[in-house]
Amino acid sequence: MNRSTTPTPRIVVLISGNGSNLQALIDAIDNKTLNATITGVISNVKSAYGLERAQKHGIDTTAIDHRDYADRETFDLALQAQIDAYQPDLVVLAGFMRILTPNFVRYFSGRLLNIHPSLLPKYKGLNTHQRALDAQDTEHGCSIHFVTLELDGGPVICQGAVAIELGDTAESLAHKVQHHEHRLYPLVCELFLHGHITLDNDNVTLSKTAVTQLHDHNALQGTHPS
Ligand code: GRF
Repeated sequence: MNRSTTPTPRIVVLISGNGSNLQALIDAIDNKTLNATITGVISNVKSAYGLERAQKHGIDTTAIDHRDYADRETFDLALQAQIDAYQPDLVVLAGFMRILTPNFVRYFSGRLLNIHPSLLPKYKGLNTHQRALDAQDTEHGCSIHFVTLELDGGPVICQGAVAIELGDTAESLAHKVQHHEHRLYPLVCELFLHGHITLDNDNVTLSKTAVTQLHDHNALQGTHPS
């Protein structure tokens, strides 16, 4: 039989909590829309529910409590070593609530993605849903971006936008935004791992396939003009 010998691409996912985006990746692998293996899930919070999600699917997990380390540098070195042990092609931040050191970011540059719950460059940092409501914005969303030295400031690959409607609360908005997150993050991982998304000199390059597929998923490419 003539089988492809190309190895399945490997992903490591970093989480701190619920892990619904991790679950979306696991589901996409199960339903074969994401051709990849999650070789490890790492959390800085031992009780993170995402670790249970991973274990239920037989995925290796590691908890590295940042409070056990003297400073950010030593924690990030331990994290880096554990990620390396899982030999990933892609490192996915999915609700990982730690600011990363420049050395860590540089080390994984070009294969380190994050999802942020706002239409960047709006609302970097925390409480994004409430901040969008307080500003009386008419739309909100999520951004998937390469991680660079600026917090939530790396080049944006795509965004998913939702309308803010009368009566929306931070919770209802979070729910709507996560619907987009769970569709777009697996797609972006699939496209990245198969060479359709690259980072060159802080610029995102998309193949024609990536442009078409993101468009078909109603994703905005790059940063949405505000
Ligand atoms: C997501 O809303 C993501 O945008 C942000 O953290 C949240 C993580 O949610 N970075 P979950 O843990 O994947 O459910």
